[in-house]
Amino acid sequence: MTQSASGTEHPHPDVDPHLGQILVTHEAIQQRIAELGKEITVDYAGRAPLLIAVLKGAIMFMADIARAISLPVELDFMAVSSYGTATKTSGVVRIVKDLDIDLTGRDVIIVEDIVDSGLTLNYLRKNLAARHPASLEVCALLLKEGMQKVEPDLRYVGFRLPDEFVVGYGLDVAERYRNLDDLRVYVGPGSGH
Ligand code: IMP
Ligand code: MG
Repeated sequence: MTQSASGTEHPHPDVDPHLGQILVTHEAIQQRIAELGKEITVDYAGRAPLLIAVLKGAIMFMADIARAISLPVELDFMAVSSYGTATKTSGVVRIVKDLDIDLTGRDVIIVEDIVDSGLTLNYLRKNLAARHPASLEVCALLLKEGMQKVEPDLRYVGFRLPDEFVVGYGLDVAERYRNLDDLRVYVGPGSGH
C-alpha cells in the first residue's frame, strides 16, 4: 500500500516521485564507515574519544561510526535549530539540547551528517572549542563540494558530493526520508529540480 508524501504511510522509495537517483548505496556507506573507523582507531590509539553528534541528521552515522571504532568511545548528543528554509540553512543556530558530558580535557570528535555551507559546523566548532577540549576534530560523512566560503577544516570525510539536496540515512526533508538505507537525490518541492 503506497500513499502520497502527505499521507500517513511512508511511500516506497522506488515509487516516490520526489526521490531521484541513488547517490551512495547503503553498502558503499558501510564500507566507507569501516575505513573511517579504522583510521580513527589508529589515530586515537590509547585515548578514549568523545563522539558528539548533532541531532537528528547524524544519528545513523553516529550509530555506525561508533561501532566501527575499536576504542572506549563515549557518545553525546546536541540538538540545534537553525533558521532557514526546508533546504537551506541561514547560519543562525540556537542550541535546543546541550551536551551532558563536560568537554574539559577530552578528545572530541564532532560527528556530522553533511557539510553544505559549513555555517552550522562553523558555529559548533567555535561553541565547543570554548569548552576547553584537549583536541577537537570533525568527522563528516558528506561534504558538498565547492559550497563553502572558507575551506572547512575536516579531519575525516566520507564522501564528496555535487550540489544536490540529498535524503536518506538520517537526512531529511521536513522530517521525512531519514529511514531510507541509501542516500538519494531529492527532486521534490523546494529542491530546485
Ligand atoms: P550547513 O550549515 O549549510 O553546512 O548545513 C548543514 C546542515 O543542514 C546539515 O547538518 C543538515 O542537517 C542540513 N543539510 C544540508 N544539506 C542537506 C542535504 O542535502 N540534505 C539534508 N539535509 C541537509
Ligand atoms: Mg535537516
